[in-house]
Amino acid sequence: MNNSPNRRSFFKKSLVLAGAFSSGSLFNQLHAEDFEKKANIYKDLSPEEMASNEDYWSLIQQAYPASSSPVLNLNNGGVSPSPKLVLDAVDRYDKMANMAPSYYMWRILDQGREPLRQKLADLGGCDPEEIGINRNATEALNSVIHGLDLNKGDEVIGSIQDYPNMMNAWKQRALREGIVYKQLSFDFPIEDDEFIVDMYRKAISPKTKIIHVTHVINWVGQIMPVKKICQMAHERGLEVIVDGAHSFGLLDFNIPDLEADYFGTSLHKYLSAPIGTGMMWIKKEHISKVWPLFCDQDPTRGDIRKFESLGTRSFPLEQGIGEAINFHNGIGKKRKEARARYLKNYWAEKAIKIPGVKLHTSLKADYSCVIAGVSIDGMTPRELESTLLKKYKIHTSPVSYENIDVVRVSPHVYTKPSDLDRLVKALEELAAK
Ligand SMILES: Cc1ncc(COP(=O)(O)O)c(C=O)c1O
Repeated sequence: MNNSPNRRSFFKKSLVLAGAFSSGSLFNQLHAEDFEKKANIYKDLSPEEMASNEDYWSLIQQAYPASSSPVLNLNNGGVSPSPKLVLDAVDRYDKMANMAPSYYMWRILDQGREPLRQKLADLGGCDPEEIGINRNATEALNSVIHGLDLNKGDEVIGSIQDYPNMMNAWKQRALREGIVYKQLSFDFPIEDDEFIVDMYRKAISPKTKIIHVTHVINWVGQIMPVKKICQMAHERGLEVIVDGAHSFGLLDFNIPDLEADYFGTSLHKYLSAPIGTGMMWIKKEHISKVWPLFCDQDPTRGDIRKFESLGTRSFPLEQGIGEAINFHNGIGKKRKEARARYLKNYWAEKAIKIPGVKLHTSLKADYSCVIAGVSIDGMTPRELESTLLKKYKIHTSPVSYENIDVVRVSPHVYTKPSDLDRLVKALEELAAK
């Protein structure tokens, strides 16, 4: 086998040249021109006007293999599919890695990590030195939850509507170390920020150290007033951890503008990055005091990279994030968010007119984006979900949890209005029974 320096430098060069961070990116090769042409045709339309422009969105739909799935996927909030160029990038990197894994992964592909950190920081509107790359929101947030020094009796305020993996992390700390984990309970939908902020405020005691809040509640899609909660918490000397699994890559915001202290997200939801990719953000001044979950040679250093000693993981998946960001940027943050809202409203506004159908999510823009919960009188969430799947080939997510009984519906930018017509028709037929 020819393993000459020339051959090696060819691979190195070709990767760098063809990588997601260069002008030779797959996005530039496959989509940039078409995206630009279409965007130019409609350059006078605002994101909101563009949201219903099916000519533009058909271009996006064509880029996703999921558009032709035999099962209509309306559970993108669970995990979102990637566009084809992301799958191709991962495949390309994977083939390369498997030529000589330790060489290509640890000497070639890992050179993409710093450009990726920069790209993620650009997307989050923050400093790359505050971005840690990992595998999912659970890993990102568990790193923070377990990494903070707390003493017996110190209090953490969260809610029972936070995500189970994070609630379990806090419960384990309570069990093991005697911290006090207080959980609020919300009756969503709530269209009153002050009411929500007040719930957290009232739960604070002299022992409270942390507030844990979910940016977009996964069960019903309620958007929480994170910034207001952070401001209220900071006035009282508390820190705030934000679970952004359902907001990042969908809502148009910069992470620092939330004014939180810690933020964790998956990238395989609305960013459509490869499945098994995630990210953490820690405000620079806090990095040194958070202990890494996977130990580092210098666990107290103020370098975000100390959270990346994960052992062997998929570098091809990680590097595939770059093309997902290219694709996302190709659409544009504002246009993507506006389309997501349009799709949710498209079906939900029809659904609420059907006798017997209830919506459990606000339709006001401040309180929801793409996710909504729906129910039909006389059917359990499990019955509704399984009938939608068996009879109509529509995949959704049933939620019977605490005070929430809904089927969660979460479209994505590749979802067509005609797909949602199918859902509305199914709801009409089932509600009429
Ligand atoms: C609000 C929220 N946080 C965290 C997660 C965990 O994401 P992951 O499984 O990618 O770690 C989810 C998953 O759906 C979620 O809905």
